[in-house]
Amino acid sequence: MIPDLFTSRLLLRAISLDDAQNMFNMNADPAVVRYTGNKGYKNIEEVVEFISTYDQYEKYKQGRMTILDKSTGEYIGWCGLKFLEDINETDLGYRLLQKYWGKGIATESSIAVLDYGFLTLGLKRIVGRVVQENISSLNVLKKLGMKFEKKFEAHGYQCEQYFLEGQMWQEHREKLIEKKFD
Ligand SMILES: CC(C)(COP(=O)(O)OP(=O)(O)OC[C@H]1O[C@@H](n2cnc3c(N)ncnc32)[C@H](O)[C@@H]1OP(=O)(O)O)[C@@H](O)C(=O)NCCC(=O)NCCS
Repeated sequence: MIPDLFTSRLLLRAISLDDAQNMFNMNADPAVVRYTGNKGYKNIEEVVEFISTYDQYEKYKQGRMTILDKSTGEYIGWCGLKFLEDINETDLGYRLLQKYWGKGIATESSIAVLDYGFLTLGLKRIVGRVVQENISSLNVLKKLGMKFEKKFEAHGYQCEQYFLEGQMWQEHREKLIEKKFD
């Protein structure tokens, strides 16, 4: 399985069947799925099937994780790693209910996830892949210290790939933490 991750405001834990309704509701918002290449789930059974067959934790000790508000237990969305077998890369991703956008939650969750990937798992490299028009997501990747690598096309969109390596993360996370406590 995968350990829980804690930040000042959030708890990240493995996705479970308890999240099915929240995941269904989140993906039913067209603004949320606009740049993700996903459509909403057809029904709750489809979400249950997705969660029941999700094998990233077992196979790779990593995966997308549910984000909860640590103080209220409210569902916020998900953030986490995913091993992309087709390109042999580990990808950082995030998706939040719209009411939680613009509060720094994707950045805060991603810091915990990148620490887990680089410091706990010892991964060498993590990428972020984003549709060019998805400005908030691009901003998150840049704030995390990810560097532009290449453009590519997916789902009919122009996309960009960013990357981080372990050493780059060690250096950048110190700056991020210094900034926070300035
Ligand atoms: C992408 C997403 C996870 C970002 O989450 P978030 O918690 O709002 O992100 P953060 O608050 O940590 O950071 C967003 C940054 O972009 C900035 N931003 C947001 N919209 C912007 C815009 N239109 N123009 C310029 N900057 C913008 C914010 O000000 C913030 O930067 P700051 O902290 O320097 O002020 C969220 O918008 C989401 O769930 N989108 C739908 C799913 C999705 O697209 N996922 C990513 C697929 S690659």
